[in-house]
Amino acid sequence: MILESTFRKYTSLFKQQGIPDAADEARVLICHVLKVDSAGFFAMFDKHLTDAEQSALSALAERRVSGEPSAYIVGHREFYGIDLFVDNRVLIPRPETELLVEEVLEYSRGKNAAPLYIADVGTGSGAIAIALALSLTNAAIFAIDISAAALEVAWRNVCRYGLQGRISLLKGNLLSLLPRPVDVVVANLPYIAEGDLQGLPVEVSCYEPDIALNGGGDGATVINRLLRQVRGKVNPGGIVLLEIGSGQQSKIFKMVKRVLPDSEIVLREDLAGIKRVVKIIVPCL
Ligand SMILES: C[S@@+](CC[C@H](N)C(=O)[O-])C[C@H]1O[C@@H](n2cnc3c(N)ncnc32)[C@H](O)[C@@H]1O
Repeated sequence: MILESTFRKYTSLFKQQGIPDAADEARVLICHVLKVDSAGFFAMFDKHLTDAEQSALSALAERRVSGEPSAYIVGHREFYGIDLFVDNRVLIPRPETELLVEEVLEYSRGKNAAPLYIADVGTGSGAIAIALALSLTNAAIFAIDISAAALEVAWRNVCRYGLQGRISLLKGNLLSLLPRPVDVVVANLPYIAEGDLQGLPVEVSCYEPDIALNGGGDGATVINRLLRQVRGKVNPGGIVLLEIGSGQQSKIFKMVKRVLPDSEIVLREDLAGIKRVVKIIVPCL
């Protein structure tokens, strides 16, 4: 069978199985088997797949149909134009999290060449820290996670991009071990309410780590703990950027006002119109 027909076959299989973005999912698996990128894939539409390639693809498609996310199957995911190693020790980086990276880059514009100190709290695969280190050559980044397993994945990605001298990985609870105040705290912490976890798609609930998803009873427990640690850890004029879940903005707004009453709060929407990022501006002295 040629690639074009194979692509159609698996796209329609995934659609029948109710898998969102069926064509993208089929393409990712085919690229993995043929060891090509997306450009190579479209250039090879007439290629005949060998029997070995067909059976490798069929095995991967079976795993996908049974619920395993394609990023874990192929062992990587793109984030902010960077290819990251991922496995089931870390959350698969999501496109909406790129908003956090954009907000830090926006903040850094107009700052002088002095080092910008950044803490990426709940670093997981290291996605945010690595995207920032590659874009901001004057940044020194502390990438923190409570999960030693996640930090092993982050370390692999940090080494892959040669950023060992720019990103310090710390195993710790939120900001408790932060060695110095920073200009930016950026955090995509778990924010799903515990009671909602079972209702998530099987790709998420059965495969992604609970510690990356479970935000406690109301979904905002870990974020609340972080906010309570911020005072004294962020330089005057610095910012705290939080990714939040759909509909959490007023709860988080109230929390921020309680814990950091002098701060200014700005919300930013993602492409779906969901209030996704909370920016907290810490007042200058
Ligand atoms: C939603 S994932 C985000 C991963 C990555 N930053 C991203 O955006 O793809 C949340 C991460 O926070 C970590 N985490 C959970 N509780 C934590 C805590 N108390 N202190 C530090 N990290 C924590 C989890 O281990 C997980 O890696």
